[in-house]
Amino acid sequence: MKLKELDKKMKECQDCELAKTRTTVVPGAGSEQAEIMFIGEGPGKNEDLQGEPFVGAAGKFLDELLNRINLKREDIYIANVVKCRPPGNRDPKPEEAKACWPWLEQQIKIIKPKVIIPLGRHSLQRFIPEAGISQYHGRALRKEFKPLGKLIFFPCYHPAAALYNGSLRGVLEDDFEKIPKILKKIKEIS
Ligand code: URA
Repeated sequence: MKLKELDKKMKECQDCELAKTRTTVVPGAGSEQAEIMFIGEGPGKNEDLQGEPFVGAAGKFLDELLNRINLKREDIYIANVVKCRPPGNRDPKPEEAKACWPWLEQQIKIIKPKVIIPLGRHSLQRFIPEAGISQYHGRALRKEFKPLGKLIFFPCYHPAAALYNGSLRGVLEDDFEKIPKILKKIKEIS
């Protein structure tokens, strides 16, 4: 299956309560051939209205971070753990994340990214429940992830966290600077 086909199916999803309150499904955006896949938490107000991930303030900062390492949105893929906005921007409920999981799994299967970058602790916890973001950010981890096989993760703080806590800005910038080197290393060993 191609992403286009998957997106079409996703847009009709009624698998959890979020379907009742969303304006639009936000499947994700970017290249099907992306080597780097960023995974945020879930759409906010702007994303819900526009159907695109990371278009609000956090998205602007994400664009800046990408720009610093010469990446454009069309070079990468950006998705979220949940594809519909939780009302009032509350955290997604475990059952919502669980219901949405097969979509993300299929996206990863199609894109086959060389590195997955969970943005923020909620995204990281979906992949590595025992890992805390403050300890694991900016470190590459290789993990068997059934049924997808061995995946490489490089967790980063969520860009929105840096908007609330200015001291995280430099940390995020430093972690992003490592991404091209990590990717180069992965390609050398694979
Ligand atoms: N925050 C997220 O985690 N995802 C978005 O798409 C926007 C903001």
